[in-house]
Amino acid sequence: MTTLGTPLSPSATRVMLLGSGELGKEVLIALQRLGVETIAVDRYENAPGQQVAHHARTITMSDPEQLKALIEAEKPRLVVPEIEAIATPMLQQLEEAGVVRVIPTARAARLTMDREGIRRLAAETLGVPTSPYKFCDSLAELQAAIDGGIGYPCIVKPVMSSSGKGQSKIDGPADVQKAWDYAMAGGRVSHGRVIVEGFIDFDYEITLLTVRALDANGAVQTHFCDPIGHVQVSGDYVESWQPHPMSPVALQKAHDIARAVTSDLGGQGLFGVELFVKGEQVWFSEVSPRPHDTGMVTMATQWQNEFELHARAILGLPVDTSLKSPGASAVVYGGVDAKGIAFDGVAHALAVPGVDVRLFGKPESFVKRRMGVALAHAADVDTARRNAKEAASRVKPRQA
Ligand SMILES: Nc1ncnc2c1ncn2[C@@H]1O[C@H](COP(=O)(O)OP(=O)(O)O)[C@@H](O)[C@H]1O
Ligand SMILES: [Mg+2]
Repeated sequence: MTTLGTPLSPSATRVMLLGSGELGKEVLIALQRLGVETIAVDRYENAPGQQVAHHARTITMSDPEQLKALIEAEKPRLVVPEIEAIATPMLQQLEEAGVVRVIPTARAARLTMDREGIRRLAAETLGVPTSPYKFCDSLAELQAAIDGGIGYPCIVKPVMSSSGKGQSKIDGPADVQKAWDYAMAGGRVSHGRVIVEGFIDFDYEITLLTVRALDANGAVQTHFCDPIGHVQVSGDYVESWQPHPMSPVALQKAHDIARAVTSDLGGQGLFGVELFVKGEQVWFSEVSPRPHDTGMVTMATQWQNEFELHARAILGLPVDTSLKSPGASAVVYGGVDAKGIAFDGVAHALAVPGVDVRLFGKPESFVKRRMGVALAHAADVDTARRNAKEAASRVKPRQA
């Protein structure tokens, strides 16, 4: 049975978010609505989620000692990772010592913090279909992996990276050196390891939001949201929509893969399972053990959006993954490198039918930084996509 307390009192239910970007901000808002006392942690001050939480803390989350000291000082009931670049072995140590519960589990956070743990688990332990792949530590190893079976075209990604950083496609031998150099420049931690994957010529890709939540008897049940279709440009999401139609066979395979991967990772919470689909073939790509950027569309499409689902699931509350309306999301990029930017055109954007806009409040903008998102619901996905893109294009960030 879940008991919730009163924030800022001895009965408070305290939850700590590790990472407080736009996704964490929405999880924090969902938790606030249930009267949870929230602690928003990030590596810089005034991160989006810190602006809506009871407490804001700024530390280097990849530093195990800083992380340990903060968790021991704050004593949250739950620690909820929002990003990958965290000292996850320390989380595992603290969880094993009974100091804290990590969402969904410390092991899941560790396995998904780089591309290797989760890929080996899915492909080698669980036998889930994935692209062919090899891990390489040098240009020579990369060339050998390609020549030894991965072939062309293929994709190279730093083992530690997200949002397409350092990732590029290799079409032939002339691109190999460039892809290696690009990966070395774009990885989060420069330890020089990459994954090279055979290119999957998919018809479409989806995010399958999968929720592990308790039922009335306290047993974990797996729930699926409708598939989310999305478009990625250079490995970064620019547009998503829900529902994305799938054949019954492909949908069943998608559910089976998502269930296999998330039940192995365990715990409670929402996962974003990324899948490639061609005809009735389905490949697992990767999984976030937390809300997914492409899932922001659910703020326009579901009765309980992905952030509310995560908040409920981690607190042991029941969930409802049903669709409310078809809809779409389109990213608003910064367009400028500047601090404290201004946004023109918001009223014009909101004049588009069925549209809503979220501005994340990030203190600093970069040309390619995600600063906001336009959401649209409509009678059909095509209309929603058109309206979301139109609204996003009407928001004009500029130097203040
Ligand atoms: N093996 C592959 N074949 C085809 N496209 C791929 C492959 N791997 C990645 N992509 C494309 O690049 C995008 C980003 O790759 P992903 O592995 O999800 O990186 P990130 O962790 O940065 O999101 C995918 O959503 C897909 O569009
Ligand atoms: Mg991805």
